[in-house]
Amino acid sequence: MSSPDLSSDFGAVDRGAAADRGVSASASASAWSVVLWDLPLRVFHWSLVAAVTVAVVTGELGGAWMPWHGRAGLVIVGLLVFRALWGVVGSATSRFTQFAPTPARLLAYLRGRWRGVGHNPLGALSVFALLGLLSLQAATGLFGNDDIAFAGPLNRLVDDVAGARATGWHRWLADGLIALVALHLLAIAFHVIVKRHRLVRPMITGRHTLEPGRDWPRPRGVGRFGLLSAVAVAATAVLALAGAGGTPVAPASAPARPALVAAPAGAASTPAW
Ligand code: HEM
Ligand code: HEM
Repeated sequence: MSSPDLSSDFGAVDRGAAADRGVSASASASAWSVVLWDLPLRVFHWSLVAAVTVAVVTGELGGAWMPWHGRAGLVIVGLLVFRALWGVVGSATSRFTQFAPTPARLLAYLRGRWRGVGHNPLGALSVFALLGLLSLQAATGLFGNDDIAFAGPLNRLVDDVAGARATGWHRWLADGLIALVALHLLAIAFHVIVKRHRLVRPMITGRHTLEPGRDWPRPRGVGRFGLLSAVAVAATAVLALAGAGGTPVAPASAPARPALVAAPAGAASTPAW
């Protein structure tokens, strides 16, 4: 990949497209194309969609599907760790400070005076809610167990009462998360169908066309080092949790309870009755 392509995928102005339209990137005399969402953010989003879908379906199915639930859950943990770091070192539109829904921004948006690019202040509220709820969901899952044969990797660190409480929250939060995802999809459908905003394509291709004169947040030195560091920290977190054990404790075909009774100490803290 040539370096201009790489830099555009990391959030820089697509100077080629701007030149095609006969304008320079700095002199925005006509509509110009920018990379709105950098490639790592898009990979994060669509991986998150896949992993959350698998986690919700396998969580609801339970039983023999729980080991897959644990794996999907750990992938989500890794994605969330990555996103937390990318919100600090990522390209401009990925940074939390860039789209933090401050009262001033929210007021400007509600009065129709917001002229930014990226998550609008109201959308940013739902982004933070989604990321926060997903983090709580994953955290409670790590300490929970299904009372049969599956325990989160950190379940052994807490006593039965705390484990049961985490599991209860995990079940309760799952309903809230499903509702929030439904709201996310409804909001996007509203913007696309009613307000005719092209939101979905930029989340796939990264590209978005700005009207003349529209300013947008410039990228701030995103490089391979920031990306590799974020990926490395996220991968380390996932490997550490996977290594902590407790994920699948019984083969899918084995009867769950006898396997648990015979399980070595520490494999699951679930009582055997
Ligand atoms: C399990 C399902 C989903 C989850 C958990 C989810 C989560 C998220 C999150 C966390 C963000 C913020 C991205 C960021 O970190 O900055 C986001 C943004 C976005 N998502 Fe989803 N998403 C889901 C499904 C979908 C689907 C199916 C679509 C497309 C039809 C979609 C389209 C978008 C778009 C267009 C944005 C950017 C919104 C904007 O322009 O401000 N999402 N999503
Ligand atoms: C954000 C990611 C996650 C989502 C969306 C999710 C979703 C769900 C859902 C929908 C259920 C079924 C709840 C019910 O029975 O009503 C469930 C159960 C469960 N999840 Fe997760 N989960 C996630 C992460 C995790 C993680 C990381 C672990 C641990 C590795 C985990 C461990 C469990 C356990 C032990 C149960 C069984 C609780 C019970 O007995 O019902 N989950 N999860």
